[in-house]
Amino acid sequence: MRAYDILLRKRQGNELSPEEIKWLVDGYTKGAIPDYQMAAWAMAVFFQGMSPAETAALTMAMADSGPRLDLSAIPGIKVDKHSTGGVGDKTTLVLAPLVAAAGVPVAKLSGRGLGHTGGTIDKLESIPGFRAELPTAQFLRIVREIGVAVASATESLAPADKKLYALRDATATVESIPLIAASILSKKIAGGADAIVFDVKCGLGAFMVDEGEGRTLARLLVESCRKAGRHACALLTSMDQPLGRTIGNALEVQEAIATLKGQGPKDLRELCLALGSEMLYLAGKAATPEEGQGILARLLDSGAALAKMVQWFKAQGGDPQVIDDPELLPQPTTVVQVKASQPGYVTALNARELALVVMALGAGRATKDDPIDPTAGIVLAKKTGDYVETGEVLATLQNRGTIDQDKVHRVERSFQIGDRPGPKPLILERIPANSNPSA
Ligand code: URA
Repeated sequence: MRAYDILLRKRQGNELSPEEIKWLVDGYTKGAIPDYQMAAWAMAVFFQGMSPAETAALTMAMADSGPRLDLSAIPGIKVDKHSTGGVGDKTTLVLAPLVAAAGVPVAKLSGRGLGHTGGTIDKLESIPGFRAELPTAQFLRIVREIGVAVASATESLAPADKKLYALRDATATVESIPLIAASILSKKIAGGADAIVFDVKCGLGAFMVDEGEGRTLARLLVESCRKAGRHACALLTSMDQPLGRTIGNALEVQEAIATLKGQGPKDLRELCLALGSEMLYLAGKAATPEEGQGILARLLDSGAALAKMVQWFKAQGGDPQVIDDPELLPQPTTVVQVKASQPGYVTALNARELALVVMALGAGRATKDDPIDPTAGIVLAKKTGDYVETGEVLATLQNRGTIDQDKVHRVERSFQIGDRPGPKPLILERIPANSNPSA
């Protein structure tokens, strides 16, 4: 095979064979195919697209470009959950112990935040003592013993994706739906998932702003999973406003704990029950997602999921006392309120702008080794659909440094106030599992 011929065939709009795709990916990973040829191929894919079969082949080639995590020592169907990234998205912190409490093993690899959305690992590391960098043997032992562990993904997981993503980032080829689907899926498969529930977010605060593109990605993810022999389902969810009422690492841990105590925001609970019920269904623990919702609601209300969170934090070295006393989480030294300058309903909330302010407060990093302030964040007193009087608090900004007026004004301008409430539904569509794996 010659890289030139493969590029030409793709540029002309032909479907590549799985062998051609594997040859290209393996050659690129080893350094035998140079960046300029791979970049040309990515651009050809950007314009010509890829069929579901090509997407599945790319997924498997990238998943196999490094060692896969072998979860076979953990009994049961391992169902992973993947969110395409949103603002204030702390669902993993709630779902991991909740789903584990229902007997579904959770062996989850997560990332740190880069860009405008936060990372689960940064959130967990705001818990005093919590260790996310776990050797594989310890990670697997914790899952076997207590049913749940969340660790930082290692560098060796799907190295072809890492290399290709960096190339796409530099060549304006990130926004290709099949390349995105293969990138996401390759890491899930390399991480050992038997089945996957996708939370594909769309809206201002999401990676995919456009709802139609989000729907296309969600469908392609489910279809490519089927072709790759994995059961999957997706929820298309709105990310116009942040999820829950907090954005920022320690704040989000606190909100996840409150949710497991039955005191969290309604939207976060709704999404966790919806995603978790799909996980139970794919794991064969519920005959239908509706039955799964009932099981999970009981585990939340009985405190069983909270008890699992205590076990989980302890197993990874985290101080479980933070669950009873959230004051033990890192605390800010500066807190500034943002007040409404007119009365009315909050008609829209700019999630992306709020996320950028949270980053600027110290919660995010521009490069992967930057230190972060775990206390930096925003608490939203009002969300879309709420009524606000002039002078009432809209939001509170916090960190361990200074907070200038520019950030206060940016947050104030993120709230649109009008004369009618207008909240959009959170769950826009369910792209169902192709079949019940336990059937
Ligand atoms: N997230 C990923 O993991 N890969 C992409 O290509 C885009 C978003």
